[in-house]
Amino acid sequence: MTILVTGGAGFIGANFVLDWLAQSDESVINLDKLTYAGNLETLASLQGSARHVFVQGDIGDADLVASLLAQHRPRAVLNFAAESHVDRSIHSPEDFIQTNIVGTFRLLEAVRAYWGNLESAAKTAFRLLHVSTDEVYGSLSASDPAFTETHRYEPNSPYSASKAASDHLVRAYHHTYGLPILTTNCSNNYGPYHFPEKLIPLMIVNALAGKALPVYGDGLQVRDWLYVKDHCSAIRRVLDAGKPGEVYNVGGWNEKPNIDIVHTVCALLDEMRPKADGASYSTQITSVKDRPGHDRRYAIDASKIERELGWKPAETFDSGIRKTVQWYLANPEWVAHVQSGAYREWVQTQYAVA
Ligand code: NAD
Ligand code: DAU
Repeated sequence: MTILVTGGAGFIGANFVLDWLAQSDESVINLDKLTYAGNLETLASLQGSARHVFVQGDIGDADLVASLLAQHRPRAVLNFAAESHVDRSIHSPEDFIQTNIVGTFRLLEAVRAYWGNLESAAKTAFRLLHVSTDEVYGSLSASDPAFTETHRYEPNSPYSASKAASDHLVRAYHHTYGLPILTTNCSNNYGPYHFPEKLIPLMIVNALAGKALPVYGDGLQVRDWLYVKDHCSAIRRVLDAGKPGEVYNVGGWNEKPNIDIVHTVCALLDEMRPKADGASYSTQITSVKDRPGHDRRYAIDASKIERELGWKPAETFDSGIRKTVQWYLANPEWVAHVQSGAYREWVQTQYAVA
């Protein structure tokens, strides 16, 4: 048996592929465009594995997707491929529209044609799992209850609007054509192989490089953090036992203000890699201009997946963030290699630093 994973060279997709191949005997076809966020070094341990077939390509390339489906006959397609960084979507939204909306549409069309021609048992067993985000629900005030699956869609950034559009398309393909689709809407992930444009890895690599730790605005925006391997276990559980047409919110009940996250990262680095002068890394924290339209708070109500599918995260925030900081300290080559010319260009555009 085989599954087709899209975006499997990115942060969550690659963690998913690595975990999948370690825990199951099914093969993975991994389709990834290798944008700046895709990194084959993350998958280096799979070199020579007959169970991992990597294909560089675009989910929007209908002919390529159709030929991969025809050749490998997967029993499921898992769509992780996306443009994923909110700040980049504010600077240049076009790629977000192309991949997250048009790309998802083309993928849906190719999968619909493939699924429509499967014989009866394979057709019944087939699943398309669409990986989405809590950002589609918009922003909460401090006293609002956490997002449930029935919370109205109110996306605020080009990124979240493009993900919302993709969620609507997959919903329509289930409703109209009966395509057996599962959607997951997850909160903020963190962990190994996280590209250092996002808050937690950026703070770790900047701290170690002696650079400023840029906190947007007052730093009191709240995110709900989940260790990436727990997100991967939730996706496996939804694929196994989720009901087609259903949406599952995924989160670990770990709401934290950004400034607390940054202080936690600094405290762990102070303990594990103390600075020569004895100062705390927290002295590098700097307040910078806020993100335009910055969502104030996200929080996931994960009751449905816990109750109906018996899923629970394995890590607490304390255990997960400790593992994450340890991973970055132990993998300086991975970090150095992703800080390519394209990465430096982004950092200059966004933070105007050398
Ligand atoms: P990422 O940016 O690290 O990786 C995205 C991957 O998709 C990259 O490998 C990239 O090369 C690939 N890709 C981009 N456009 C493509 C295209 N047109 N065709 C094929 N491949 C393409 O993203 P991530 O953080 O791993 O997120 C994966 C998915 O999970 C996304 O759909 C994102 O919206 C969702 N999500 C992310 C988080 C989070 O905290 N990171 C939380 C919830 C949901
Ligand atoms: O909620 C799920 C989403 O989480 C995913 O859908 C997105 O793909 C993922 O990128 C993430 O979006 P956020 O915008 O929440 O993540 P980011 O790491 O960019 O920022 C987290 C918070 O930290 C946010 O409030 C902005 C703030 N921040 C971020 C950066 C990069 C800073 O204060 N300084 C920074 O330099």
